Amino acid sequence: MSETILIIGACGQIGTELTHKLRVLHGSESVIASDIREGNSELMNSGPFEIVDATNKAQILDVVSKYKITQVYLMAAMLSATAEKYPQRGWDLNMTSLLIVLDLAKEKYINKVYWPSSIAVFGESSPKINTPQSTIMEPSTVYGMSKVAGEHWCNYYHKKYGVDVRSLRYPGIVSWRTKPGGGTTDYAVDIYFKAIEEGAYECFLEENTRLPMMYMDDAIEATIKIMQANVVDVSVKTSYNLAAMSFTPKEVVSEIQKYIPEFQVSYKPDFRQEIANSWPQIIDDTKAREDWEWKHKFDLTTMTKDMLRNIQSQNNEFVKTV
Ligand code: SER
Repeated sequence: MSETILIIGACGQIGTELTHKLRVLHGSESVIASDIREGNSELMNSGPFEIVDATNKAQILDVVSKYKITQVYLMAAMLSATAEKYPQRGWDLNMTSLLIVLDLAKEKYINKVYWPSSIAVFGESSPKINTPQSTIMEPSTVYGMSKVAGEHWCNYYHKKYGVDVRSLRYPGIVSWRTKPGGGTTDYAVDIYFKAIEEGAYECFLEENTRLPMMYMDDAIEATIKIMQANVVDVSVKTSYNLAAMSFTPKEVVSEIQKYIPEFQVSYKPDFRQEIANSWPQIIDDTKAREDWEWKHKFDLTTMTKDMLRNIQSQNNEFVKTV
């Protein structure tokens, strides 16, 4: 059966690249991008686009009916740092949008759902090294609370109504096409841009803060892979641990300095340090690797090379041959 896909939150960091990839795979006309506001010209010109408020069921249902949507990727969310500033709004956006989409699947308008969870489901009491798939989850952020609750809703809709919903606990995602906004792991994107554009960066996390991270290419690969997997192979109905690499700001800096030796970094931790301290350092994603053969490609070295090369060519700059 041919699929018609709706991406909600298509103009965000992951949504932009997911839309691009899905349009390559399924054809532009079969992939409907939507967001609360318009995105960059590349996205807007590459296929159908609709303005959609992720918390408005009528609006979403209109688009689902108009295009005969079969699958929804729900990428709209308020990330950890912003949700700490606006707890109620963060909770409302993250929960309401998920329940709307799960209901559309329950009501058989659509037959498959993708929804991202996060390493933020873990908290102080979770093991920090090789954090297992199933372990204690007492998140300290509103964002993490919404993700834990969301995971249980996914599992509930599967068990109770047979909804086919698939989910990954993304680590921090590093990318150059679209910047993230409002996350605790955002430094790992900003640092590359600042290295090239200003030669200096003030980091909002301490230099030895180790966090799980992943390059965008791998995140997109994992997302497509879990959606294409046979339903019987997707044994985890909450959300899968997903990992590629773990690093500290200091380690990124020395990797960047291989290409830009004069790059200067200072450290001024803010409220995001506490969030980062509550999260795992290294995630055990054995289950994803076993169940649907997840395999990452990029490590810190290969990612750094690719990030610097792409930001340079995007900015039309030539700093040093990368
Ligand atoms: N990257 C997210 C954040 O920092 C974690 O899922 O909020």
